[in-house]
Amino acid sequence: MKEISFFATCPKGLEYLLEDELSALGANTTKQTVAGVTFKGPIELGYKVCLWSRFANRILLPVAHYPVNNADELYKGASKVLWAEHLAVNGTFRVDFSGASEELTNSHFAAQKIKDAVVDQFRNKTGQRPSIEKRDPDLRINAVMRRGYVTIGIDLSGQSLHKRGYRVEGAAAPLKENLAAAILVRAKWPEIAKAGGSLVDPMCGTGTLLIEGLMIAADIAPGLWRKNFGFQRWKQYDSKAWQKLYQEAETRAKEGKQKLLSTFHGFDIDETAIAQARACAARVSFSNFINFQTVAIKALTAREVKKKFGLCVVNPPYGERLEEQENLLPLYRILAHTLKENFLNWEAGMITGNMEIAKKMGLRAYKKYAVFNGTIPCEILLFHIKPEWFVTKR
Ligand SMILES: C[S@@+](CC[C@H](N)C(=O)[O-])C[C@H]1O[C@@H](n2cnc3c(N)ncnc32)[C@H](O)[C@@H]1O
Repeated sequence: MKEISFFATCPKGLEYLLEDELSALGANTTKQTVAGVTFKGPIELGYKVCLWSRFANRILLPVAHYPVNNADELYKGASKVLWAEHLAVNGTFRVDFSGASEELTNSHFAAQKIKDAVVDQFRNKTGQRPSIEKRDPDLRINAVMRRGYVTIGIDLSGQSLHKRGYRVEGAAAPLKENLAAAILVRAKWPEIAKAGGSLVDPMCGTGTLLIEGLMIAADIAPGLWRKNFGFQRWKQYDSKAWQKLYQEAETRAKEGKQKLLSTFHGFDIDETAIAQARACAARVSFSNFINFQTVAIKALTAREVKKKFGLCVVNPPYGERLEEQENLLPLYRILAHTLKENFLNWEAGMITGNMEIAKKMGLRAYKKYAVFNGTIPCEILLFHIKPEWFVTKR
C-alpha cells in the first residue's frame, strides 16, 4: 500500500493529544510542529482520521513544498503540480492561503497567484478552466507560507473538522468541539467513563462538553453526522474505502451506545442555552442520554445527578465583557463551593481564560495545561475534589 505524508492541523496546545490520537488510529512516523502534526500512512488513513479525529481541524495532503521569494516563484511552483489529478476541468475550487514572507505580505494576493497557476494550467491544456467557488467548492487547496517555504496541500477535510454537524445556529460563545474533547481527555474522562462514572457540566451552555463526552464514552466517531468531507469530491476519491470505514463507525456507535455505563447531566442558569443544548443533542439522537436542566450553580446539589462518582467539567464565563468582571470571583467561588459540598471525591476539569480569578476560587489544581480558545490564551485546570486540595482562608 502506498505510504502518503499528511499534515493534520489543530488548535495550539493540542499537538500532543493529536499526535497520540493519530498513532492510535494507525499513523506512522508522527512529528509535532506548532498547531499541527505530520504523519504517514495509506490514503484510507487520511479518510479515517477525518472521521475519527476529535482534535484535528484539517487533514492536508501536501502536493508541493518549495522556497519562495516572490509572487513569480509562487506561481511557477504551483504550476508544476498536476492539477488534473485532483480536480475535473468543469469542477470548482478555492485557495486558502496563510502565513507571509517579506515580499509576500498579502495572503489574498498570494492565494490569487496559486489560483492563476491552476486555471492557466487547465486552460493551456484543454482550453477550458475550473471555476472559483468560495462556499462549497469541489476542492480546497491549502497553502501555508513559513520561513521562506510554501507548502501547498489538498484539504481532505473540507470544512474544519471541529464542525461535527450538531451545532444549532445562533448559540452564544460555544466552546469549540475539539477543544471540548481535549479538556475531557486531559481530565481522564475516557478512564472515568470506562469505570461507569457520570459526566456533569454545571454551566453547560449549548452542551458541547456533554455531547463530546458522550461520543467519547460510547466510541462514537465525531465525524459520523457530517454531511460531507473534502475528499468525497476529490478526483482520486475511493468511495469503497470510505463506505467500509463509515459502516464500521456506525456499528461501533450502535454497540457503544448499548454498552454505555455513564449518565450525563448539563445545567445552566440560562433557559435559552438549555433549549439550544437540547436541540444540539436531538440532532445527533442523544436526547435520551443527556439530562439538561435550567438550574443556577448555587442551587445545584448532587441530588440532580444521583451518582456517587464521576467528572465535573466546566467552561465558566471568563469575564471578557466588562459587566461580567465584578461578578466573576463570587461565581468561581460558588462553583468551587458546590464542587466541595456536592461532588466530594469526584474529579473536575475547567477551562478558563481568567487564571487570576481561578487562583482565588479556593481549590488547588493538580495539573494545568496551556491552550488557546480561539485567540484567548487559556488554561485547562484539573482538580481532585478532596479536602487535601481545598484552600481555606488564612
Ligand atoms: C462560556 S459559557 C459555556 C459555553 C458552553 N461550554 C458551550 O459550549 O456552549 C458559560 C455559561 O455559564 C452560564 N452561567 C453563568 N452564570 C451561571 C450560574 N450562576 N449558574 C449556572 N450557569 C451559569 C452561562 O449561562 C453560560 O451558558
